Amino acid sequence: MNIQKVGVLGCGLMGSGIAQVAAAAGFDTTVLEVEQKFLDKGFDTIRKSLGKFAERPPEKGGITAQQKDQILARLKGTTKPADLADCDIIIEAIIENVEQKKAMYAGLDSIVKKDAIFASNTSSISITELMTATKRPERFMGLHFFNPVPLMKLVEVIRTIATANDVFQTAYEFAKKLGKVPVRTSDKTGFIVNRLLVPYLLDAVRAYEEGVGSIEDIDNAMKLGCGYPMGPFTLLDFVGLDTTYYITQVMFEEFKESRFASPPLLKRLVMAGWYGRKTGKGFYDYSDPNNPKPNKL
Ligand SMILES: NC(=O)c1ccc[n+]([C@@H]2O[C@H](COP(=O)([O-])OP(=O)(O)OC[C@H]3O[C@@H](n4cnc5c(N)ncnc54)[C@H](O)[C@@H]3O)[C@@H](O)[C@H]2O)c1
Repeated sequence: MNIQKVGVLGCGLMGSGIAQVAAAAGFDTTVLEVEQKFLDKGFDTIRKSLGKFAERPPEKGGITAQQKDQILARLKGTTKPADLADCDIIIEAIIENVEQKKAMYAGLDSIVKKDAIFASNTSSISITELMTATKRPERFMGLHFFNPVPLMKLVEVIRTIATANDVFQTAYEFAKKLGKVPVRTSDKTGFIVNRLLVPYLLDAVRAYEEGVGSIEDIDNAMKLGCGYPMGPFTLLDFVGLDTTYYITQVMFEEFKESRFASPPLLKRLVMAGWYGRKTGKGFYDYSDPNNPKPNKL
């Protein structure tokens, strides 16, 4: 199967990034949103990101002003699902809500051509459950991108027990055409990255609760001792404590293993509305964003 036209659902943080990399790879790309104002916001983000690429030298992934215009010309925004009818692949990146995603898929299933692939970018919802909203189980799968999409190289390519081999292979090759490095995995909650990362992050919180070290010292230890680009608390604040807490609930519900259970401190930070960078407070205080100070917790 030859993918030429890409449809993206949602033009938020992830959808705008996915649309950008698809258009940059030469695909005609249409993004669906609920309201024009969300498209405007997403396209603003795309223009800013492409502007940064245009400032870089070509050997560092830079693009020319002309290439920037060509990428933007391949991108279209719409609020009408019918505009996605002739897409070859639909990548869904709407909010992480199972009912809204299923309703979206059920509606599009009868609009989008029968042999199109449906791929979800969900971080935690079962791909198999989303698949049940459609009549195309063999053409349904996951494509899990990482934030920020234009910079992060990884895509987890996720199959369910019903995904057809040729569909899986087409999506795998498509991820490569986007300039990404795909890895193969199956529909088990957390896939590869979160399955390994989440228990590590939660253990860092538990270590802090037990007095093993301060927030700063634990971060420095993992950075300098393991060569990680950032420590666990900096990463938690970056991902969002609310998002992490939600993922721990889904993973604990699935596996019933204590390593996926939220430590009390994480839950309390979320209840207090301290979600990390985006709210200005989490494990660190971001009053001065260039010089975060660890909070006394
Ligand atoms: N944020 C991350 O770091 C990250 C990483 C990997 C995967 N994901 C997954 O990507 C998906 C999107 O996350 P996000 O962070 O971009 O969220 P976001 O809130 O930034 O964007 C979601 C967008 O979807 C739009 N939307 C909602 N309902 C819609 C509908 N019915 N039709 C069209 N658009 C609709 C919203 O208006 C919003 O602009 C989620 O499933 C999330 O789990 C997020």
